[in-house]
Amino acid sequence: MKFKTVFVCQKCGYEAPKWSGQCPECGQWNTLAEEVKQQESKKEKKARSFTDFSSEVVKLSESKSVKEDRIPTGLGEFDRLLGGGLVKGQLTLLAGAPGIGKSTLMLQVADALAKNLKVLYISGEESISQISGRAARLGVKNPNIFLHCQTNIQNIIESVENVNPDVLVLDSIQTVYHPEFTSSAGTIGQVRECAAELVRLCKPKGIITFVLGHVTKDGELAGPKILEHMVDCVLYFDTEKDNVLRLLRPHKNRFGSTSEIGLFKMTGHGLEGVENAGEYFAQTSAQRALKGRAYTLALEGSRPLLTEVQALASPTHYPYPRRVATGVDLNRCLMLFAALEKHVGLSLDNKDIYVSIAGGVKLKDPALDLAICAAVISSVKEVAVPHDWMFLAEVGILGQIAKVPLMDRRLEEAQRLGFKTAFCAPVSKSEKQKITSLTLQEITEINELALKLR
Ligand code: TYD
Ligand code: MG
Repeated sequence: MKFKTVFVCQKCGYEAPKWSGQCPECGQWNTLAEEVKQQESKKEKKARSFTDFSSEVVKLSESKSVKEDRIPTGLGEFDRLLGGGLVKGQLTLLAGAPGIGKSTLMLQVADALAKNLKVLYISGEESISQISGRAARLGVKNPNIFLHCQTNIQNIIESVENVNPDVLVLDSIQTVYHPEFTSSAGTIGQVRECAAELVRLCKPKGIITFVLGHVTKDGELAGPKILEHMVDCVLYFDTEKDNVLRLLRPHKNRFGSTSEIGLFKMTGHGLEGVENAGEYFAQTSAQRALKGRAYTLALEGSRPLLTEVQALASPTHYPYPRRVATGVDLNRCLMLFAALEKHVGLSLDNKDIYVSIAGGVKLKDPALDLAICAAVISSVKEVAVPHDWMFLAEVGILGQIAKVPLMDRRLEEAQRLGFKTAFCAPVSKSEKQKITSLTLQEITEINELALKLR
């Protein structure tokens, strides 16, 4: 095997023979780092390939498939997100910011799986005593869980071969290193090689593998994108800062849909699934009308989430009024403010406006639009929005109200939660079939909403 020095972009994985300040591929600055690369012969390359490639061409209809037996973890939120459970040999990447609760979630999943399966938990981040301290707090004491604190991938492979587990957890991919490579742990080359070793090890044995990974400040997976290609399932663990509610979103899922989300809250004894999301959000609000508050049902996957939108418009003390959005896209809000100025005649240029989603979730459902507009109108005009009003529509730049998908499900949920009036774009008969106690205010222009709020 021959060695050569290359410069690898830590952002996109581009390889250059010489160092330069900017990556020629992705345009990022200061991302090229020196790494030693082995030049493999064809034979070696074949030995290191991911899967056993078949030597002959077969008919798809005649080829044998692996039966997808789902192995449920028993954690309801986690199973639904995965499409019913785990599949043998599934490789899952769990990514999230430090401190979000990845290790906690994994220990809980390990505990649930260890009822029937053998779990090997490898940590390169914490010592045995730290992990057992956390396990004690979580009440995890299953004898089927094996711990190993190790960062050398070759030793990890050895212990997998000795223990022969059904489930492997690696916490985290950025801490492990391959001794044949000189670059430090966490660099693109190391992450790629270590992940490739894991794929080679776990796939043929059918080991269910979880790989934990950190994300950078801007929310991207630290290390190469290539990691996402190599695994079957990528889950992102996310929250707004300092909030108890955590969202687990699949970014890629070879065995299920990516439109489901898992909702958890961090408690004193670990993560708890939030089964009834609507009620969780609803209890945060008293049953009274408030200025600047409007409700909507944002759809996350197949589940409508009761969402409280808050807006505050206050006189500005700056030459340029401030616009702040938390949990929603600021550009979307700016567009809605412009539409409100133009089509409703609200004067916003002398006001700072803050828009926030209560509960600390980040959402991008277009159904939020009307609720944002209602909250802003309410705060500017100092008129409270009745607590049993629901807003379910997209607002365009021309001030027109547009329908959002899955109205039937949203309306049913609004009715179930006890809302009395729903503002939306005109809906079809079949969509309002099951609506009995909810009055629909079908509007086509944003101005019609403004007229109700005075
Ligand atoms: P951790 O799982 O270590 O995060 P990660 O592996 O993603 O870096 O958990 C992080 C936070 O969760 C930590 O700040 C403490 C908190 N926590 C609780 O609030 N309750 C608990 O029972 C546990 C185990 C952790
Ligand atoms: Mg951790």
